[in-house]
Amino acid sequence: MAKVGFLGCGKIGQSMVEHIKKKETHQITFIQDPFFKCEGELKEKIIVQGLDSFYEGTDLIIEAATADVLKENIELILKHSNLLVLSVTAFSDDDFTDKVKKLCSKYGRHIYFPHGAILGMDGLFDARSIVNSVIIETVKNPKSLGREDTERTVVYEGTTREACKLYPRNVNVHATIALSGIGFDKTYSRIVSDPAVTTNTHNICIKGEGISFTLNISSFSTGGVTGIYTPISACGSLDRILGGDEYCTFV
Ligand SMILES: NC(=O)c1ccc[n+]([C@@H]2O[C@H](COP(=O)([O-])OP(=O)(O)OC[C@H]3O[C@@H](n4cnc5c(N)ncnc54)[C@H](O)[C@@H]3O)[C@@H](O)[C@H]2O)c1
Repeated sequence: MAKVGFLGCGKIGQSMVEHIKKKETHQITFIQDPFFKCEGELKEKIIVQGLDSFYEGTDLIIEAATADVLKENIELILKHSNLLVLSVTAFSDDDFTDKVKKLCSKYGRHIYFPHGAILGMDGLFDARSIVNSVIIETVKNPKSLGREDTERTVVYEGTTREACKLYPRNVNVHATIALSGIGFDKTYSRIVSDPAVTTNTHNICIKGEGISFTLNISSFSTGGVTGIYTPISACGSLDRILGGDEYCTFV
């Protein structure tokens, strides 16, 4: 039975908490979220601040808060546990990534990047040595982007590194694509605000020596930054990390 802690417990975190509770195969050791409210047995697991005494003995910490919260807690997390990270835009900061690599090496830890709102990261990672162009376009309702556009507007075009700085809560998929592919400076991002849509759509075009992949992924938006697919896919990633009860694994 693995011991799992949560840093951030909003839409994605709560669905993973429910998943763990339903399966009864793992134990939730703490939920660090100053704004999370619940009743029952989980109430006593809520903490507002990370401390050695809470983190000690945890096998996996799931970060589902924000890139800044991840950065604030990274040293304590990796001192005690492996990490499943949702706020992937934090890794567009090379100084942070260097620090993470050093901490992983120092404490013998491992980071898991889930495919999250999109699919196929394993395939892109396998192909990266022959990939030379990656373009990702995201189309969201202006409300999800914190904007008030009344017509379709291209709000950003350029490197994924800059997109992560400008829209850290909205381009985690761009960051995951950059990390698994050709990096934050070579990956090209486009963000479109469209008041006519109720979905989060990601159009990904990957080209390389003898290969061409096009992925179009659309997921109904329930408000906020996260579409309907991500909480489901995050639970699948968790099962693959901790060892699910299926007879097979897709690799
Ligand atoms: N990788 C992906 O494909 C992908 C897809 C969707 C969302 N995300 C990212 O995942 C993260 C979580 O998304 P969500 O939809 O669950 O967001 P959410 O806003 O529903 O939940 C975030 C939670 O973090 C908590 N929080 C805020 N400050 C905190 C602090 N100082 N310490 C601990 N917790 C704190 C909030 O109270 C909230 O409960 C976000 O960064 C989001 O951008 C990633």
